[in-house]
Amino acid sequence: MDIIILENSDQVAAQGAAKLQKLLLDKPAAVLGLATGGTPIALYRHLVVEHQNGKLSFRDASSFNLDEYIGVRPTDPQSYRSYMQRHLFEQIDIDVANTFLPECAADENPLEVGPKYEQLIAARGGIDLQVLGIGQNGHIGFNEPSSSLRSRTRIKTLTRETIADNRQYFDATEVQPQLAITMGIATIMEAREVVLLATGSSKAAAIRQSIEGPVSAMWPASILQMHERVTVLLDSDAAAELANRDYYDWVQEQKRLLLHEIEGA
Ligand code: PGA
Repeated sequence: MDIIILENSDQVAAQGAAKLQKLLLDKPAAVLGLATGGTPIALYRHLVVEHQNGKLSFRDASSFNLDEYIGVRPTDPQSYRSYMQRHLFEQIDIDVANTFLPECAADENPLEVGPKYEQLIAARGGIDLQVLGIGQNGHIGFNEPSSSLRSRTRIKTLTRETIADNRQYFDATEVQPQLAITMGIATIMEAREVVLLATGSSKAAAIRQSIEGPVSAMWPASILQMHERVTVLLDSDAAAELANRDYYDWVQEQKRLLLHEIEGA
């Protein structure tokens, strides 16, 4: 794990965006794994600005989102489809036909959505870079604690804690969904690279458990300890409970020195 602790949330967003930008420069037809929630909004803003400045194109890219609510129409402002349109897709040059979420149409059997989504990801050659947030309970996507570490895209019931955490995004009159379709943990683990972003003190315990605790289905993000290429971008609040912080900072310093030496040679 590459654990990078930054001063503030904007640096987290900027470094996350830079990773996606580098991937798209190297591989314009990259397959992106995208996330919703409060954390990636600033990352998407960086991508939009780079696109507007003519430095980034998504023309040949495709994307797969982690999750979508069941029972919320795509046009509903609360759907993750709407979120993605608003924060990213409408402001860049991606072909919307190449953007996918595990959506369940009104006439569709929700049990069939997951396997079809998996096939679609495979048909596009798999995900090159998956962006993740993390829940206060350690969930990734909507893989709540006790999710099978080998799970695939499927229906999940949200925990009461997740429903409470997401209440802030709904008006008092809006009915909050309790079910979602989410990429599974095995699906996420198949991405060739993962970048997890966490900001704010509300994430500090989940980050400590996931990075320094044992691999456990009770802290789903802890499975990332078994992925080959993971970068964790944290602000200092989210990193506050890490016991080995000195070491992570030291590693980054050593990397900078080594890179300087190699590039200077
Ligand atoms: P947040 O959600 O970015 O809104 O905190 C993260 C998550 O639940 O995965």
